[in-house]
Amino acid sequence: MSSSNPSDQRLWTAALAARQHAYAPFSHFQVGAALETDAGDIISGCNVENATYGLTVCAERVALWKAISEGKRQFRRICVVADTAEPTPPCGACRQLLWEFGRDLEVILGNLEGIKAHYRLSELFPHPFDVRFLSE
Ligand code: THU
Repeated sequence: MSSSNPSDQRLWTAALAARQHAYAPFSHFQVGAALETDAGDIISGCNVENATYGLTVCAERVALWKAISEGKRQFRRICVVADTAEPTPPCGACRQLLWEFGRDLEVILGNLEGIKAHYRLSELFPHPFDVRFLSE
């Protein structure tokens, strides 16, 4: 499903631009992500790899950490862009981390051509562990 919604396009453009900064010399798999806050601000991120491999951080997480460290904790949407025909979804770890702050945010997936799919995070991550369990 593509989208001509201008605010979707704005988010896709931000994710695409962030992807340009991806540091992915090991996988050569460049990813960009753009989070939209409840106030309409956009915070983007790219994946950052490391020679140890295991210290690699996904684009979604970089965007999320940037936002949290700027005092932004409420999000409406995230857009993820990679150069794949089937659009790249957030990894399992990022789904857990997005749930912590974004709850059931909209997940927009795109490639270099444009937006290809829309999901709610609950569709991609249907049985989350979260703070509700800690207070039982
Ligand atoms: N990656 C992301 O940044 N986000 C995703 O949604 C999937 C994977 C990165 C991590 C690593 O740098 C590269 O893509 C290959 O896994």
